[in-house]
Formats: sequence, C-alpha cells, structure tokens
Amino acid sequence: MPDSSNHISSPNLLTDTFGRHISYLRLSVTDRCDLRCRYCMAENMTFLPKPDVLTLEELFDLSKAFIDRGVRRIRLTGGEPLVRKGILTLIKRLGDEVASGNLDEVTLTTNGTQLPQMADALYRAGIRRINVSLDTLDAKLFEEISRRDRLEQVLDGIKAAKAAGLKVKINTVALKGQNETEIPAILDWCLAEGLDLTLIETMPLGDIEGAREDSYLPLTALLPGLNTRWNLRPSTFKTGGPARYFAIEGSDNRLGLITPLTGNFCDGCNRVRVTCTGRIYMCLGQDDHVDLRAALRSDNPDQALEAALGKAMIQKPKGHDFAMKDNRMVGTVGRHMSATGG
Ligand code: GTP
Ligand code: 5AD
Ligand code: SF4
Repeated sequence: MPDSSNHISSPNLLTDTFGRHISYLRLSVTDRCDLRCRYCMAENMTFLPKPDVLTLEELFDLSKAFIDRGVRRIRLTGGEPLVRKGILTLIKRLGDEVASGNLDEVTLTTNGTQLPQMADALYRAGIRRINVSLDTLDAKLFEEISRRDRLEQVLDGIKAAKAAGLKVKINTVALKGQNETEIPAILDWCLAEGLDLTLIETMPLGDIEGAREDSYLPLTALLPGLNTRWNLRPSTFKTGGPARYFAIEGSDNRLGLITPLTGNFCDGCNRVRVTCTGRIYMCLGQDDHVDLRAALRSDNPDQALEAALGKAMIQKPKGHDFAMKDNRMVGTVGRHMSATGG
C-alpha cells in the first residue's frame, strides 16, 4: 500500500487525448444498497466479496493520487455510499483535504435512507452539499420503484440534512408511466422546501426486468409542459456536472436537466469513475477500464499507478453511445449503475 505522505512530487495532470482535463472523480465506495430500484438493480443481486473491495485506506490513497494529479472535486457514490461501514472515516480524511486547500469539495450522491442518523456527522466531517435520489413523493410508488417501503425514512433524512446545514439537491429519474405525471408536483415540493431539482433520463445500464424503452421519458418532451406552469430561463449556472440548469421565476431554486439521450454533453466531460474494486471507468457509457487495484497492491504502487492512470487517459473514449434508434435504446452497457456509481 502506498505511503500517503510520500506521493510522486510532480506527477502529470490528467488530460485525455481530446484535451479534456480531469478535475472530478466519482468514487464508488460500495456496490451494496439497501434499496433495489428497478431501473438500477435486480431484486437478487450478487454483491462483491469483501477482499475484492478496496479498503478505506486504499480508497483514501487512490483519492490522494487523483488529488495530486489535479482533481479538485470528489463525489462519493455507490451503491449507497452511506451503507459502507466506516465511511465517515474516509469522508473526514477527504474533508481534511478540503480544509487544507488540496480539494475544492467532497460531496455525495445518496438515496437518503441513512441521513436521519448520519446528517450531522457528515456536516462535521466536511460535507457541505449532497444529492439525494428521490423519484416520487408517493409512498406506494416509492415502494414499487425501489422495492422497499422507505419514503418516510428518506423524507426524514432530507429534513435532517437541511437541519444539519447541508445543501440538498434532489435527483429524479424521469420514468414514463411511473412518476411522469407527478413531476410538476415534485418540482412544487422542491421549491416549497427550498431545494434544487435535477431530472435525469434513464440510461441503458445493466439488465433489468422489462424493457428500458418502456420507462424511457425524453426530457425534451417534458420541458414544454413545465414551461407553461413555470417561467423557466436557461441559466449559466454550472456545478461542473452534466446538468443544464434553468432559473425559475419567483424562486431562488433551479431546475437541472441531465439529458444523456436527447442532449449529449460528453464534449465537456471532466470526470472519471472509480469503482469500489479499484477499476477506473473513463466513461459511464463504455466498457473501457483500467485496474488501479492491481497497481495499488503492487510492490511499487506510485510507479504502477502513474502508468495505469497514463493508460487510462489514453483510453478515455470520446463519449457514450446511448441513443434511441427506431424506438430501441442502443449503446447499452452490461454494468448496472450501482457498479459504476452514477
Ligand atoms: P452536481 O452537478 O455536482 O450536483 O452533480 P451531478 O448532478 O453531476 O451529479 P449526480 O451525482 O447527482 O449525478 C446525477 C446523475 O447524472 C448520475 O447519477 C448519472 O445518472 C448522471 N451523470 C453524472 N455524470 C454523468 C456522466 O458523465 N455521463 C452520463 N451519461 N451521466 C452522468
Ligand atoms: N439511468 C439513469 N439514472 C440512473 N440511476 C440509477 N440507474 C440509472 C439509470 N439506468 C440514478 C439514480 C441516482 C443516481 C445514482 O443514478 O436514481 O440518482
Ligand atoms: Fe440503490 Fe441508488 Fe440503485 Fe436505487 S438507484 S438501488 S438507491 S444504488
């Protein structure tokens, strides 16, 4: 394991062959989750054996290797990042990197179920904003989509997060025939609660029961309806993520749209993903990956990591190939979102 106090003195910044600089790491800390969202997972998932998963120490060492190479933001994902045992230790260490100016922020994307008991500790560890995935405010539909009866727990979690001082953004996957008609009500609720909302188009990641096409809802189809109810103005606001934001007249909150299918945003890609087994995926929508765990566990981790990251940058693809063609979703990828971490 590399000594985190002994990093390469002047390593290269991470820049791919298209000249895109990587400043954002999405780090999946577990493939496990306490929900089973139908568009994300099967009910009976086989989760990874423990020795395959990076230890918290290894996750930190990897993060440090990215920070040393110019990464300024780290987002922890999963599965559900907050079900990983000891996760606060890692967050605290990353929070210290923020405090010392080595990192701009550490954030996380969570399903919210653990927030009632963890929100205060997250704030203390250095987290300032989080994204909570919430596809419906209807308890029955929540259970249908996630196969678990946890809406109340998630809403309590959001309340706890706000009370702890965390800025919360809601992520909602737009699902045809499921939450489709509820989306205006979700936006109403977000505005009343003082929360930004981002709508996401479902992507063809991993096998699920039924056809992806059945639940696919293009956001281009939804926008005109939302625009009749609210006065939405395209905003220049950017978080460094793929969402295009709209200002909402009469509100300080925003609506974001993540449109992998109807509006490709790969040209501006600034990110890579690392799974909890230490694989770096250079694109959410492609299979190209490089094994960083082998490098990390080798006799000369610093040198092996430098070589592996160099290889990853050479292999970073131009973008995903998700698209609708003749009413079929193409460009599919075998991995579930829970493996790559959103
Ligand atoms: P902030 O802007 O930092 O708040 O984050 P974000 O909205 O980019 O991040 P979040 O983790 O909330 O991501 C929301 C969803 O956007 C993810 O779960 C993915 O579904 C999608 N997404 C994020 N990054 C990418 C990307 O690089 N490619 C694609 N196709 N989808 C992405
Ligand atoms: N397409 C789009 N979004 C997805 N998510 C999970 N699977 C998919 C998919 N196939 C979302 C979750 C959460 C984030 C981690 O990714 O709802 O907001
Ligand atoms: Fe868990 Fe998120 Fe996947 Fe739902 S979408 S099963 S909350 S990882």
